[in-house]
Amino acid sequence: METKLEVALLGATGSVGQKFVELLSNHPWFELAEVAASDKSAGKKYFDAVNWVMTSPIPEKAKEMIVQKCEPNLKSRLVFSALDSNVAGEIESEFANKGYYVVSNARNHRFDDDVPLIVPEVNPDHLELIKSKNSSGAIITNPNCSTIGLVLSLKPLHELFGIEAVNVVTLQAVSGAGYPGLASLDIIDNVIPFISGEEGKMESEPLKILGELKNNKFDYAKIKISAQCNRVSVIDGHTECVQIKLKKKTSLNEIIKSWESFSSLPQKLNLPSAPKQPIVYFYNEKYPQPKLHRNLGNGMTVSIGRLRECSLFDFKFVVLSHNTVRGAAGGTLLISELMKAQGYLDKFL
Ligand SMILES: NC(=O)c1ccc[n+]([C@@H]2O[C@H](COP(=O)([O-])OP(=O)(O)OC[C@H]3O[C@@H](n4cnc5c(N)ncnc54)[C@H](OP(=O)(O)O)[C@@H]3O)[C@@H](O)[C@H]2O)c1
Repeated sequence: METKLEVALLGATGSVGQKFVELLSNHPWFELAEVAASDKSAGKKYFDAVNWVMTSPIPEKAKEMIVQKCEPNLKSRLVFSALDSNVAGEIESEFANKGYYVVSNARNHRFDDDVPLIVPEVNPDHLELIKSKNSSGAIITNPNCSTIGLVLSLKPLHELFGIEAVNVVTLQAVSGAGYPGLASLDIIDNVIPFISGEEGKMESEPLKILGELKNNKFDYAKIKISAQCNRVSVIDGHTECVQIKLKKKTSLNEIIKSWESFSSLPQKLNLPSAPKQPIVYFYNEKYPQPKLHRNLGNGMTVSIGRLRECSLFDFKFVVLSHNTVRGAAGGTLLISELMKAQGYLDKFL
């Protein structure tokens, strides 16, 4: 059997960090060797430092691991970051400067000119940017949790029909705010029509992801996007109501066909976290629903439904994706699997 690559996890005690620990417990290619978090957790056993909120038990091996400080003296050269964005920027740069590959969920470096922002099914080719770097380390980023569902739904349409404009209204789960997140009295029986910084991310990140990498420079997609983001009383799973204007005329059937037949490099390479179908379209007009569909494809499939014509734009539909799996830890793992399958991690083996 092939030896697994040892990996470290920064921000291992947070809600995304815990999802990583869960997903890595049986990973065929990566072995969680080190966990790190803030000074308040460092030096403790993971079991004592973490307030475990996953539904599965803490993996036995992780329980006994001693939480390290987030300092670039860890032995694993591939590092996943689930750090709070208040501290992620500097810490991730320190690791990259010392030759580590950091695959991050935090927003801080997503728009750096030398950092790819990757959804493996959408822009796997953008990874090539890290080959051009002079330094031995690199930061690779995963987009915002609501951007990922949106760009996956847009990718086949942009390729076939060209997207001119998008209007999106989100209904985002409380787990997106981390743990402990919002006070229960604020969110139960309520909708909060503001998530700090979220609308800007949804309006800008898809342009980098759907853009092209030309001579190691990003040529951003020219799409107008308007986003309104709401927090709703759902635990996991972000729902998005999307309206799109296309450059070419098409039909409802053609659009559904483009989603149903969509398959990309992660599926061709049979990566361990790649869902067989990255996109599932539901014909039942009451679907998709977070409670029923967020775990499709082990949380990595994006569900779409309610495609219809739109009197303001051309078409409208509803997208659902799991925010801590596809939108965070699972998405980052898929990026790292793609890197491994394409030889980017050979130097660490
Ligand atoms: N939740 C989601 O759905 C989601 C989706 C996509 C992306 N993200 C992004 O992923 C990251 C993690 O999110 P989260 O929801 O898991 O946040 P969280 O629950 O608040 O966890 C934050 C983690 O950062 C660590 N940390 C805080 N201050 C630190 C410091 N000064 N030095 C070292 N470590 C420190 C914490 O360690 P201690 O426990 O020791 O304080 C904890 O492990 C954020 O950047 C977030 O924006 C989240």
